[in-house]
Amino acid sequence: MLISGSNMLFLQGMRKLFTDIRALHGIELTPKALLRGNEMGMVNSIENAWLLVENGCFAGWGSMNDGNLPAADETVSLKGLEILPGLVDSHTHCIFAEPRSAEWEMRLKGATYEEIAEAGGGILNSAKKLRTMDEESLYEQSLWRVQRMIAHGSTTIEIKSGYGLSTESELKMLRIARRIGKNVNATIKTTFLGAHAVPPEFKGRQDEYVSHIITEMLPAVCNEGLADHMDVFCDRGFFTPEQTLRLLEAAAKFGLPSKIHANELGITGGVQAAVKAGSWSADHLEHIGEEEIACLKSSEVMPVGLPGTSYFLDIPYTPARKIIDAGLPFALASDFNPGSSPVCNLQMVWSLGCSRMKMLPSEAFNAITLNAARSLRLENSVGSIAIGKKADFWTTETQNAMQSVPYFFGVNHAKDVYLKGRTN
Ligand code: NIG
Ligand code: FE
Repeated sequence: MLISGSNMLFLQGMRKLFTDIRALHGIELTPKALLRGNEMGMVNSIENAWLLVENGCFAGWGSMNDGNLPAADETVSLKGLEILPGLVDSHTHCIFAEPRSAEWEMRLKGATYEEIAEAGGGILNSAKKLRTMDEESLYEQSLWRVQRMIAHGSTTIEIKSGYGLSTESELKMLRIARRIGKNVNATIKTTFLGAHAVPPEFKGRQDEYVSHIITEMLPAVCNEGLADHMDVFCDRGFFTPEQTLRLLEAAAKFGLPSKIHANELGITGGVQAAVKAGSWSADHLEHIGEEEIACLKSSEVMPVGLPGTSYFLDIPYTPARKIIDAGLPFALASDFNPGSSPVCNLQMVWSLGCSRMKMLPSEAFNAITLNAARSLRLENSVGSIAIGKKADFWTTETQNAMQSVPYFFGVNHAKDVYLKGRTN
């Protein structure tokens, strides 16, 4: 929807004014926690706009046509450019030692993801490599990946562990994630995913590994304050809903909320486990039916689709239309990882949400901004252009960005990415 008028907050501090913006998208007049059902099709834009940033936060916006520009310490003309709010990638596994392109070739010849995992490849292959890589090299290459994500417009990024699968290596991953969070201006949130797969030393003793996570790994992670959330790969061949609930209950005792992998490989009770545990999100959901949708409706769990995974593994796409048409909210994320979704570009995820999941461009946009922020319970600070939120945004030369970014898929439309009002 095109809107007019202006909105401004009066604060004292460093004021930076951006002028002559061809179009400013993703404005919220009255900030909402999340968008559900029909609301997901709504995006507010203003043409020929100005935008004011004060002390790293959005402080006002309005139309250049109205004449009165606010006073500022610095003015930057963005003539010919459109602005979108920073994208929120709420599900990534971007700390890994090596790509798994050999497994990709095996799949191209007919092997399935599950067959490769059963034969000791997949997540266990990544764990083997990560355990032996020194922390500094792992940090350097993970930081580089995070910078690639930022360059594509992602300004809030969740990072999971889960390729360590031992106390020492999970701590190594999470320390790296925290270090990245300190050294970039993007907002970084971390998730402990010790229950990503059963490591070789616990082969055939899955319940013992679950107990080990609860008694050894989780306390070590929490004592160092390394995780913001807990995750479990609750699926066929990985962890059962019962084991998932044990793990999430233990995490809750440490004050850790959960975001879980659910129903990627089958209808396996993951959604019900997430709802029972009061998880912040249930991610994947490639396999869900009416029962799961009804279950989600009774909860505050954000359903999250990961279309990069469906594309890369050639598995069904999450039924986004059914979820949204049932009146639920819906978010999208990249699932950036070396096995099932080597995509760091949320603009591509936006496009896949449209072309493959039949979401409208505006719906998929809200799914990678405001609703994604909600899945991290960060909706009060990121996810839209609203007064008081972090001034995270990106500029693009692409005209009519709200449609053209997902339409012209496969290229990076971002020109400059601003984090708290400053170019990256
Ligand atoms: O979200 N499903 C579990 N974890 C990742 C895949 C990890 C891997 O294959 O390395 C996912 O798809
Ligand atoms: Fe994942």
